[in-house]
Amino acid sequence: MTDWIVRWQEGKIGWHKNQPNSRLIEFIDCLKLSVNACVFVPLCGKSMDMLYFLEKGFKVLGVELSELAAEQFFVENKLDFTIRKSDKFMIFSAKNIDIYCGDYFDLDAQILSQVDAVYDRAALIALPADLRVKYAQHLGAIIPSDCRLLLLTLNYPQVQIDGPPFAVNQAEVVRLFKQFECQQLQCFDDIQNEPKFQNAGVNFLEKAVYFLCRI
Ligand SMILES: C[S@@+](CC[C@H](N)C(=O)[O-])C[C@H]1O[C@@H](n2cnc3c(N)ncnc32)[C@H](O)[C@@H]1O
Repeated sequence: MTDWIVRWQEGKIGWHKNQPNSRLIEFIDCLKLSVNACVFVPLCGKSMDMLYFLEKGFKVLGVELSELAAEQFFVENKLDFTIRKSDKFMIFSAKNIDIYCGDYFDLDAQILSQVDAVYDRAALIALPADLRVKYAQHLGAIIPSDCRLLLLTLNYPQVQIDGPPFAVNQAEVVRLFKQFECQQLQCFDDIQNEPKFQNAGVNFLEKAVYFLCRI
């Protein structure tokens, strides 16, 4: 966990994008969010996808280890924010958004009781295999039963380069989220747009989008 904190301190945040994710824009309607719906963004960093949800009129609840990330999200997007302390978290809040600073694994069902959907971009794939199992189990335990999920993953030959981001294929998604119906909405090879992987000689880099809802 300290690795992530250090990455934020050193500004080594190559995953961060300055615009919302194009696949979120393409597939957001699958989540069937009603006005005022609340979206949980695990391992949220300072993702501009959160701003996209806010601009669409939705509420956001994020969780992020790094306080620096949370602070940068509010400052860079010129959102007035407050900070309060709870048992295990520092909670950064502005209108319609709370970012819980602390460990995802300390979240509980009560904190997420108002959540309608989950948006996972670069959260599951940020974790090594053993933690991915824990992550999925914990998610299933803390989100309300009617919650929908939009999950973005990467898959590539893991032997050719180390993560993070880690390779996660469709079989693993199905296995991890056994209690969910899992629909793959999109999958394409995008190696030509990923110089880091291309330069490392990686053969392919699939980007996939999944929609999950509880069986
Ligand atoms: C690869 S980044 C993705 C951030 C964001 N989802 C995005 O798309 O920009 C993963 C983030 O997860 C955070 N993180 C890692 N482990 C965590 C944990 N156990 N609890 C909360 N946040 C965590 C890291 O600090 C980092 O900001």
